[in-house]
Amino acid sequence: MTQDELKQQVAKAAIEHVVPDSIIGVGTGSTANFFIDELAKIKGKIEGTVASSEASAERLRGHGIPVFDLNEVPEISVYIDGADEADGGLHLVKGGGGALTREKIVLAVAKKFVCIADDSKKVAVLGKFPLPVEVIPMSRSYVAREIVKRFGGEPVLRMDFVTDNGNLILDIHNLEITDPVSMENELNSIVGVVTNGLFAARKADVFLCGSQSGVEVIEA
Ligand code: 5RP
Repeated sequence: MTQDELKQQVAKAAIEHVVPDSIIGVGTGSTANFFIDELAKIKGKIEGTVASSEASAERLRGHGIPVFDLNEVPEISVYIDGADEADGGLHLVKGGGGALTREKIVLAVAKKFVCIADDSKKVAVLGKFPLPVEVIPMSRSYVAREIVKRFGGEPVLRMDFVTDNGNLILDIHNLEITDPVSMENELNSIVGVVTNGLFAARKADVFLCGSQSGVEVIEA
């Protein structure tokens, strides 16, 4: 199977986690796109969705799936999204597509987080994938200096990219993240940081991991 076929496989498996007659939180990225295409096949069974990016909202609407503003929605039954890295404790690095802040916000309202990814995303220690940090534009140099001072690593400004919130992304290379929860919290304490791509304080509840031998279901 190709990597896309592995992504499609987990996207199909995620449909079992869709709660009928409820609002589903939908992530961003190529794996989430496969999930959206699968969700379209059962769209009559759900009330609607909340999207974590303009791109996902557009794809959902293209399939005729209702997309609600999060402010109109008191509860999301399940949030389904991909990841850039997942460790054995189901702590994640996300934000390769730059949607990390809205992803975290939609997740905050969700009861359950089902992460879908192919097995290339499984790692022993997080940090090989550059950690995205969304920053207010005027703070980017200050935040980059603070990150180097506190954690080391090499922050690189993501070129020609503006988030859906009008902000910038610093991708932090060469980190070895052994304590993702405390790093997530400390990064968030730097003035100018909007959010960071560590999903550790709130991690995945279930990881559907696609491999050549099928979908492995890993529970936290
Ligand atoms: C977007 C994300 C994605 O979930 C992550 O980048 C994985 O993407 P893909 O499914 O394309 O590998 O966090 O901000």
